[in-house]
Amino acid sequence: REHEGQRQTKKNSIRIGVLLYRGDDTFIGTLRTGLEDKAKEYEQKTGIKVKLDILDSKGSQNTQNSQVERLISLGCDALCINSVDRSSASIIIDKAMDAGTPVVFFNREPVEEDLRRWKHAYYVGLPAGDAGVLQGELVLDAWRTQRDTLDRNGDGVIQYVMLEGEPGHQDALLRTEFCISTLANAGVSAEKLASDAANWQRGQASVSMRQWLQEFGENIEVVFANNDDMALGAIDACAEAGLDKRSMPFIVGVDATPPALEALREGTLKGTVRNDAVGLAESMMELAVSLSVDGEPSQDLELTDERYVWLRYEAVTAESLEDQAVS
Ligand code: GAL
Ligand code: CA
Repeated sequence: REHEGQRQTKKNSIRIGVLLYRGDDTFIGTLRTGLEDKAKEYEQKTGIKVKLDILDSKGSQNTQNSQVERLISLGCDALCINSVDRSSASIIIDKAMDAGTPVVFFNREPVEEDLRRWKHAYYVGLPAGDAGVLQGELVLDAWRTQRDTLDRNGDGVIQYVMLEGEPGHQDALLRTEFCISTLANAGVSAEKLASDAANWQRGQASVSMRQWLQEFGENIEVVFANNDDMALGAIDACAEAGLDKRSMPFIVGVDATPPALEALREGTLKGTVRNDAVGLAESMMELAVSLSVDGEPSQDLELTDERYVWLRYEAVTAESLEDQAVS
């Protein structure tokens, strides 16, 4: 028995490095908690110790590149990377490849060409355009069921403003594009009054919205926000301007963070789309751990094109939250 144990090559402890593009991002914060929970669960289930080194790159790709080097030299078995600049993933991939360390990108998608540089580079995420489609459908649904409240000026056109995430982020580009194309595909015309890159941030979004309220006032019928923090920023500006939930425009976000769910229940936020933090954490851990322990992705993971794990978005409204609570 003892002899057998010695010959076993399986590790009884692994070390996984995680780099966050910004530790103060709300959604990334929920994901971080999810990862810590999953690591503990895995330890309890298997008896294999998981040491997580989670570092904040604070919005600097240079910082992140040196953090990658440090984590590799500390002997991490796998790295999970939320890149600052997704177009420079190749630098990280090359470093990891030289060291033979598997690397799992998440939330900020590298271009496929970079990912293909090495067989142990993966991406775990959600198909960005789908969130836009679901947001568009939330608005379409309201257009069909409560047109009077939505189409305030009664011209049969949706006047909207768009709060965009960071320029160049796949989620900003595709969510923006697909919420509008969903309206167009359904034959509903929409008119863009204004748009701004508010970089996922509540404060920046409220500044933009404050200006727009001054400029367009009641003419804003819908606010599309690429994420919930920016939707909450728009709500802040509306509240400051003295609007209550009935006089606010129809505001939709993405993420389903705890404060956004609160706003949904209050009725200031009209809809959001769940960005599956729990599912992401689960798949990332499963992938990083299996790569560390077996050198192969776990059979339980559904890989697309050998390198991608895709999770699904889901629309959330006050009604769907209530239904869930009941069932
Ligand atoms: C998006 C999310 C945003 C922000 C961003 C960071 O998926 O909706 O709230 O966290 O990722 O990359
Ligand atoms: Ca209108």
